[in-house]
Amino acid sequence: MQSIQEFEKKIKRVLVTKEEIDAAIKEAGKKIDALYDGRPILLVSILKGAFVFMADLCRAITVPCEVGFMCAKSYYKGTVSTGIVQITMDLEQDISKYHVVIAEDIVDTARTLYDIVKLLKARNPLSLTVVTLLDKPSGRVVDYNPDISLFTIPNHFVIGYGLDCGEYFRNLPYVAEYNTEE
Ligand code: IMP
Ligand code: MG
Repeated sequence: MQSIQEFEKKIKRVLVTKEEIDAAIKEAGKKIDALYDGRPILLVSILKGAFVFMADLCRAITVPCEVGFMCAKSYYKGTVSTGIVQITMDLEQDISKYHVVIAEDIVDTARTLYDIVKLLKARNPLSLTVVTLLDKPSGRVVDYNPDISLFTIPNHFVIGYGLDCGEYFRNLPYVAEYNTEE
């Protein structure tokens, strides 16, 4: 990134506002509370993209909640998925003792979640629920759908609220369409 002007030019238009995100997270928190009905959960953030979402979601949940982190790297050529997913940091908890709720930023091809869900299910958690902030159903390559998704979006590459392009834009408070033009 050469300059602030170049940076700002990449933000094409806002797709989901901060206010819409806040309201949807409140609702998702209520759904999780109702689902677990007072039972403690382990909320797992898939890094890096879901760190912002998880920080807000954990504060919308009232059941006892521990947090855990896993780092999955999805390799991209520019804005196109290469299909290579690597777990670069694993959970420290023995999840056989937990009701696990995975917080993910976005489901596109679904390769990342498919791999992570398979991995975690093999460890026999008490239960497993997947919550995603964004869902791009038109990008699916693998037959997998999250249990709760807050927003369904068209097949654009998006940035902000944890999501990056080349590691930038994660700190935008909203979700925006990325400008792929030079
Ligand atoms: P999937 O494996 O194709 O479902 O993609 C999963 C991961 O790729 C997500 O957790 C994101 O980190 C990243 N990703 C997918 N689509 C986008 C996007 O539009 N913008 C930024 N990151 C994305
Ligand atoms: Mg991610």
